[in-house]
Amino acid sequence: MQVGVLYSRIRQDEKLLLNELRDRGHDVEKLDVRKLRFGLHEPPTALLNCDVVVDRCLATSRSLYASQFVDSYGIPVVNSPTTARICADKAKNSLALAAADVPTPRTEVAFTKESAMATIEEFGYPCVLKPVVGSWGRLMAKIDSRSAAEAILEHKETLGHYEHKVFYVQEFVEKPGRDIRVVATDGVPIASMTRSSDHWLTNAAQGATAEAFEVDDEVRDLVERASRAVGGGLLGVDLMETGDSYTVHEVNHTVEFKALDEATGVDVPGRVVDWLEERVLGEREADAEVSV
Ligand SMILES: Nc1ncnc2c1ncn2[C@@H]1O[C@H](COP(=O)(O)OP(=O)(O)O)[C@@H](O)[C@H]1O
Ligand SMILES: [Mg+2]
Repeated sequence: MQVGVLYSRIRQDEKLLLNELRDRGHDVEKLDVRKLRFGLHEPPTALLNCDVVVDRCLATSRSLYASQFVDSYGIPVVNSPTTARICADKAKNSLALAAADVPTPRTEVAFTKESAMATIEEFGYPCVLKPVVGSWGRLMAKIDSRSAAEAILEHKETLGHYEHKVFYVQEFVEKPGRDIRVVATDGVPIASMTRSSDHWLTNAAQGATAEAFEVDDEVRDLVERASRAVGGGLLGVDLMETGDSYTVHEVNHTVEFKALDEATGVDVPGRVVDWLEERVLGEREADAEVSV
């Protein structure tokens, strides 16, 4: 098959994927998103023969628009623009999880510092304030007191971009010093790890350590439902342990493989390519049936 890989920077993760595709004899079309131009009707020529395009853009805006254009040309894209739109925004992500009855931390969104303050006081301290767009723990705040809340809200309202005027407030979950990342293809876990740290941001903190995690039936079920809630695809589902159960705090649409590969010993790029092959083959079979 011919696989287009949309990227702006080739990190270790992309290298692993490209190597796996080439080792299996697939044609790889490297698509540097900075050089492509997307028209309304015809795809850029580099995309013409792609059976599937894998979006590995780092910048969210590029990922959202590029996947939407590729989809509009009728070329299958992973992840779909619908999934990307939901996962790229923490408010949309939470709404999708709640609509699917997937347990997720108590969350409220407010648009002024006064109403955000009312939520924070109601949730109690500590609580968490997150930007709706962004990742790697950037600009996330754990708020321990009313005076800290006032300072952060004022800073965001005065200095923040328009996205930061959306106040996303979440209850603080007393997790056991770690969270869980499960990478799944259309809801089926392929590898999972815990990320531990003394810092409350266990995913992005300096010195956070990753270890393999054995998925139990409950996690398997939650991952399947969380994946369906955001439209499926190649996803990283993030969960926290809540004592006797789990809560899903987000689903990510551009997943990294390297740490997971190292922590679990699972050949993550291999499993991802297995899934891509199945998808492309499945679509070809469906097409063949239609044309009979
Ligand atoms: N409500 C919460 N309570 C406690 N810890 C949290 C909460 N939300 C997030 N965290 C911690 O912060 C990390 C980053 O949060 P997350 O919502 O996944 O944002 P990011 O987009 O930066 O990955 C999580 O991996 C977890 O360790
Ligand atoms: Mg996360």
